[in-house]
Amino acid sequence: MAKDVIIACDFSSARQTFDFLDKFEGTRKPFVKIGMELYYAEGPQIVREIKRRGHPVFLDLKLHDIPNTVRKSMKVLSSLDIDMTNVHAAGTIEMMQAAIEGLTRPDGTRPLLIAVTQLTSTSQERMQQELLIGAGINETIVKYADNARKAGLDGVVCSPLEAGMVKEACGKDFVTVTPGVRFADAAADDQVRITTPAKARQIGSDYIVVGRPITAAEDPVAAYNRCLEEFLND
Ligand code: C5P
Repeated sequence: MAKDVIIACDFSSARQTFDFLDKFEGTRKPFVKIGMELYYAEGPQIVREIKRRGHPVFLDLKLHDIPNTVRKSMKVLSSLDIDMTNVHAAGTIEMMQAAIEGLTRPDGTRPLLIAVTQLTSTSQERMQQELLIGAGINETIVKYADNARKAGLDGVVCSPLEAGMVKEACGKDFVTVTPGVRFADAAADDQVRITTPAKARQIGSDYIVVGRPITAAEDPVAAYNRCLEEFLND
């Protein structure tokens, strides 16, 4: 299975994003994650331009709506030639199936589609008291991951520390995309459940999503290369 490092381009404008990506001219083109902030600020043109420059793109918009709306929205996104996108598993199996239908191109190919299980900002206490979900958070994560698998999705976004249990429940080919990665000698920032690139690989991550350890580094290209080395090599 493909393994890669995805850089979270959490910038608020095209200018900042391209100033950053320009540093990678003439090197391996990193896989980049475009989130809601940048997409809502700059629209689909930012995706087209990043693709034109040769980067694989994970469009992290976390769709969650009625199946018909998700199907039609995914159809629009599939025309952007992205490589990976996502939905909330809480939208139900029917919604996830509609997402796949919308995303599938006329030739039968489609970008990878992954599901968000429970956001890492949702604690077990909030889940139980505010959302009236009585099960434990790990049980919920595994159940939502299994729903995603049943709907035909390729995998889930989860904490690297949850990747092992997701693989155990859904099989080794079920893709895990994991943020919350930090170098052993660096600051955690606001992330709580973190691990290093090497440890993420050992636990079973297929793609690690790394933001500030690369984007805020003095030498982002060197930080990216270090990440690749630690994640991909034994
Ligand atoms: O800068 P940092 O490496 O913490 O960035 C991590 C990226 O992964 C951010 O874009 C963040 O929104 C995203 N993410 C996360 N935790 C989740 C889901 C997404 O950190 N559970």
